[in-house]
Amino acid sequence: MQLTIEKAETLKEKPEDTKLGFGTLFTDHMFNMDYNPDQGWHNPRIEPYQPMLMDPATAVLHYGQAVFEGLKAYRTDSGKIQLFRPKDNFSRMNRSCRLVCIPEFDEAFALEALKELLKLEERWVPSLFETSLYIRPTVIATDPFLGVRESFTYRYFVILSPVGVYYPGGFNPIKIWVTQNHVRAVSGGVGEAKTPANYAASLYAGSQAHKKGYTQVLWLDGIERKYLEEVGSMNIFFVIDDEIITPKLQGSILPGITRDSVIKLAKHWNLKLSERKISIDELISAHGSGKLKEIFGSGTAAVISPVGEIKYGEQSLTVGDGKVGPISMRLYTALTDIQYGKSEDPMGWVEPI
Ligand code: COI
Repeated sequence: MQLTIEKAETLKEKPEDTKLGFGTLFTDHMFNMDYNPDQGWHNPRIEPYQPMLMDPATAVLHYGQAVFEGLKAYRTDSGKIQLFRPKDNFSRMNRSCRLVCIPEFDEAFALEALKELLKLEERWVPSLFETSLYIRPTVIATDPFLGVRESFTYRYFVILSPVGVYYPGGFNPIKIWVTQNHVRAVSGGVGEAKTPANYAASLYAGSQAHKKGYTQVLWLDGIERKYLEEVGSMNIFFVIDDEIITPKLQGSILPGITRDSVIKLAKHWNLKLSERKISIDELISAHGSGKLKEIFGSGTAAVISPVGEIKYGEQSLTVGDGKVGPISMRLYTALTDIQYGKSEDPMGWVEPI
């Protein structure tokens, strides 16, 4: 496929790195590509960033048939730009596509096109530590049709957003609330796909959490309402005694790339790490006996996010001493050192542009 490039006539003003929040600003260009059954994926093009004109009947607006990804481009101290495990994002995106009946795309081509877009948007990759260029590849169903079936046509697009930290408090412990009334996903559904339905399902409990003064919701499993699953914007890890525990992937949890990186780093360091079921009762009892040392979330947007307090029913559990724990700190440093090119990349995770 031949990639075409149309450059923007005027360029936007770039914000200072110190002023960056999350997901509010977008760069000058975007990537687009279309699908129909006759041509497959076709017409790959880089164009000026622009709104999309859509028929009000467009399928994605009604039935949410869409998938997306989140990855980041980092600027190293020497000014080079690099990606972190981008091939894993594109292969997860195709897995998400399969779960919601979207035709798969060529992952190698998607990576090449992304690199071209990044070369053009190079000036938008910020330099300050903890800032990056967040990359949002997305596929949406575009048939103008109100019947419930999979679409025949699709648009794949990639937009870029210069970002700072995801949580306004930065790398500081957050407070999370375990909801007993709502569930995010169940095994057999689409919980493991990065698809808008999972995020829509999280909004009601999320807003309740915010009203109560909590940053995020920690979800319990949808069947027994007993086992801890994930946070929605992050996977979750618990340190009990000397064991690092993260819920096993069973179809309802997003298979996070940062989650996988934490698992691989912990194993590389010979720490005891288990992917297993962990119940809220086990967590409460570990807290009661003083064995709950740390809780942290992992995600592309959030990197490693220490958890200082958990609320479940009437109980508030302060985790460890409520501060950033040593394992969270070690993982955060190791991951960001690799991402920002400050250390060796023993796992081969970095992809230069
Ligand atoms: C990410 O970590 O990239 C996410 O997708 C989480 C959230 C911003 C949706």
